[in-house]
Amino acid sequence: MAGFKERVFSGVQPTGNLHLGNYLGAIKRFVELQSGRDCIYCVVDMHALTAQLYQPDLASQIREVTAAFLAAGIDPKAHIVFNQSQVSAHAELAWIFNCVARLGWMNRMTQFKEKAGKDRENASLGLYAYPSLMAADILLYRATHVPVGEDQKQHLELTRDIASKFNNDFAAPIAERGFGEGFFPLTEPLIGGPAARVMSLRDGSKKMSKSDPSDFSRINLTDDPDTIAQKVRKAKTDPEPLPSEEAGLAGRPEAENLVGIYAGLAERSKEEVLREFGNAQFSAFKSALVDLSVERLGPIGSEMKRLQDDPGYIEAVLADGAARARAIAAETMAAVKDIVGFVRL
Ligand code: TYM
Repeated sequence: MAGFKERVFSGVQPTGNLHLGNYLGAIKRFVELQSGRDCIYCVVDMHALTAQLYQPDLASQIREVTAAFLAAGIDPKAHIVFNQSQVSAHAELAWIFNCVARLGWMNRMTQFKEKAGKDRENASLGLYAYPSLMAADILLYRATHVPVGEDQKQHLELTRDIASKFNNDFAAPIAERGFGEGFFPLTEPLIGGPAARVMSLRDGSKKMSKSDPSDFSRINLTDDPDTIAQKVRKAKTDPEPLPSEEAGLAGRPEAENLVGIYAGLAERSKEEVLREFGNAQFSAFKSALVDLSVERLGPIGSEMKRLQDDPGYIEAVLADGAARARAIAAETMAAVKDIVGFVRL
């Protein structure tokens, strides 16, 4: 956005079982965006409480996501890596956004409906307000670009709605303080590539997810090569050979998913993958997919384990990142408080 410094922000919840969807849809793209940009990557631990309150392994899951960021190639010196709860301004700005967001907007959020399920009365208020906290995460740093998987698209639209209402409702104090274009940017989502929505290996109509009870539905970033091979070999397919063009994947969700995964890992388009594997049987394609997955994920998994054995190092990275994030957040909050009309002493 013109007038705003280009800044990338994204977050990953420390809810365990980091998987190939998180990697291809998000973390791999975080790594690619680093060059020539200012990036902030956050382990969103406050979000993790929305679904399940007490998580005995929360601290190690926070270290696990941090390890995944570092093992995948994020440079914590050139960019900022931190955990959300260490920067209390996320909660402060989220409160203001709770007053900006309208109930009608929140009621349209499909992720809340999916996560709350039938027993909506028993869902936490935090789960309902989740998208408002997510908008605060992004706008606290006035981030212009947010790389995410397809499932976060609606939350990014809500973030723009919140920014826009804040800019409009407070137009006078914003203009008085010289923020010509509005105080918050209308953040652009960066969603795309062949693996923006990786599906379950057991059911091509369901998203690959941390919470699927079947471990065979996903490839975890810490799976060893034998486990990866077993999961790929057992992945659901259909009886036809692969088509030679993308149009031939229509109505074949499992085939489309495996081709998308291959393309994401190989950094090629689905069309290119099908040019190579068109007319191949799944057995041959799966062997190639096993080799590629092990080649690309194996080193990340082993580096994650090495880093997790050194919690002191991980915590030093998070402490340094939090201090730098706090400094940016403090500037935003000071301006927000002035704009809203709070008395700052
Ligand atoms: P989370 O923790 O569920 O997932 C982290 C990232 O992984 C992507 N992702 C996928 N991409 C492709 N295929 C899949 N099957 C798949 N599953 C997950 C997600 O889209 C996400 O990019 N609300 C966010 C966390 C968040 C956030 C933020 C993100 C909180 N504040 C601010 C960006 C900016 C979430 O639950 O992601």
